[in-house]
Amino acid sequence: MRPFQPLVLVALAIPVLSETHYLYSGFFSGSTIVGLEFDDATLTLTLENNITTQATSGSKWIALDEQKQNLYVATTGYFQSYALTTNGSLSYSSQVALSSNCTNTNFISTSPSTPYTVFGTPYSTSCPTLAISVSTTGALQSALTNVTYDATAGVHGTSLSPASDFLYSADDMGNAVWTHSFNSTTGTAVQLQRLSAPSGANPRHLATHPNGRWVYVVYEELNQLATYERDVQTGLLTDANTTYPLIPAAYTNTSSYWADEVLFSIPSSDANSTSPKYLITGTRSRTTSSSGYISAFALDASSGAITEQLFLIPSTGSGGSANAVSPAPFGEQYFAITDSGSNFVEVWRIDEDGKSAESVAHLDLGNGPANVVWVS
Ligand SMILES: *[C@@H]1O[C@H](CO)[C@@H](O)[C@H](O)[C@H]1NC(C)=O
Ligand SMILES: *[C@@H]1O[C@H](CO)[C@@H](O)[C@H](O)[C@H]1NC(C)=O
Ligand SMILES: *[C@@H]1O[C@H](CO)[C@@H](O)[C@H](O)[C@H]1NC(C)=O
Ligand SMILES: *[C@@H]1O[C@H](CO)[C@@H](O)[C@H](O)[C@H]1NC(C)=O
Ligand SMILES: *[C@@H]1O[C@H](CO)[C@@H](O)[C@H](O)[C@H]1NC(C)=O
Ligand SMILES: *[C@@H]1O[C@H](CO)[C@@H](O)[C@H](O)[C@H]1NC(C)=O
Ligand SMILES: *[C@@H]1O[C@H](CO)[C@@H](O)[C@H](O)[C@H]1NC(C)=O
Ligand SMILES: *[C@@H]1O[C@H](CO)[C@@H](O)[C@H](O)[C@H]1NC(C)=O
Repeated sequence: MRPFQPLVLVALAIPVLSETHYLYSGFFSGSTIVGLEFDDATLTLTLENNITTQATSGSKWIALDEQKQNLYVATTGYFQSYALTTNGSLSYSSQVALSSNCTNTNFISTSPSTPYTVFGTPYSTSCPTLAISVSTTGALQSALTNVTYDATAGVHGTSLSPASDFLYSADDMGNAVWTHSFNSTTGTAVQLQRLSAPSGANPRHLATHPNGRWVYVVYEELNQLATYERDVQTGLLTDANTTYPLIPAAYTNTSSYWADEVLFSIPSSDANSTSPKYLITGTRSRTTSSSGYISAFALDASSGAITEQLFLIPSTGSGGSANAVSPAPFGEQYFAITDSGSNFVEVWRIDEDGKSAESVAHLDLGNGPANVVWVS
């Protein structure tokens, strides 16, 4: 285990029990990553740090390690790692280069337990996901293996099983969902399953329930959320053939939208960590003048099954290429949204009754944000 040294970024104001929270946002272009602060008492979002990185062609996806000591960055041609500094900045550590025709880095999944393997995916035809080893401080070291697909595949998102012994891949170009087993001792992956998705679905991102019984998949092209049952022993998936709309059901212009992200809310530290309350999704509109959509689902506390689609409401903007939702670690009702159509980050809050949500803090930026990660 690596030593755990939480960053001192939380300030308690008196007499109101307010807390500030720190988050990083990546961008689709440029070399800047920003550090933002959200104050949950005044509901304000402020830009604290403009950080110049060595990610010269954008930071299209960013991910934190389990200890929140390292930020992993997907930039064209490389997966890079940066150590978080106590002043909210980033210090470059290392990078792993990709093969010449698989340089379009788009997604990163991190293992929550030792040996903390990092999985990085370039989005181009037939490109593998790289399983990357990390040092004792969490810096990226080298590719352990290629998690391979087939000639038609173009994987956009991945999700690990709770014990990091299975990797699920959303194959947007090949219209499928893949299952591989992963042995962290040998650093090897074995292909177990390729499930074709319904015609025109195009799986983009997916999320494995922390109890291991479900994988929820965003069908980008159909603008639907699909449910897959997971066998907790074999890791194999079965399409439950149940979907939910991620744009209003009456809309026939599905090609004007492209559904994007799905993530679980994060239970507070005193709650059952295998039982998140919400599943939250973001859908982008392809026209900057039309809004995208945000939806949330209620999950059964013991099985993790979806019990109800709580709401499906317009986002503030189109989302651009983003509308990436990022649930907050300090309260299950909070999540952030990035919009690269109108260049802003917002923090949203789900209402007490769970039936709606709204933006509670908005910050305009000079560039198009991709996704954010919460440090505190
Ligand atoms: C960050 O950069 C933006 C745009 O260049 C500028 O407006 C802002 O003041 C800077 N903020 C900090 C904290 O450096
Ligand atoms: C933040 O800390 C790092 C060392 O941890 C230092 O190199 C950097 O200059 C500091 N940045 C600011 C803005 O103080
Ligand atoms: C990369 O390019 C080579 C040569 O054009 C091709 O054979 C190969 O299939 C491409 N894709 C990958 C993933 O290597
Ligand atoms: C992964 O595949 C690439 C070619 O696509 C190859 O250059 C590289 O050596 C492979 N890496 C591992 C760890 O097998
Ligand atoms: C992983 O590989 C090691 C070494 O070959 C083996 O002992 C272990 O049983 C494997 N783990 C699983 C879950 O297959
Ligand atoms: C979903 O449909 C497929 C194809 O018809 C079928 O093989 C599978 O068993 C169905 N899943 C469930 C949970 O019924
Ligand atoms: C899709 O159609 C609906 C209903 O006609 C309309 O309100 C909406 O603006 C359209 N969306 C886009 C992105 O064009
Ligand atoms: C957490 O919830 C799971 C069901 O999702 C249950 O099996 C487990 O016992 C619960 N743990 C605690 C500590 O309540």
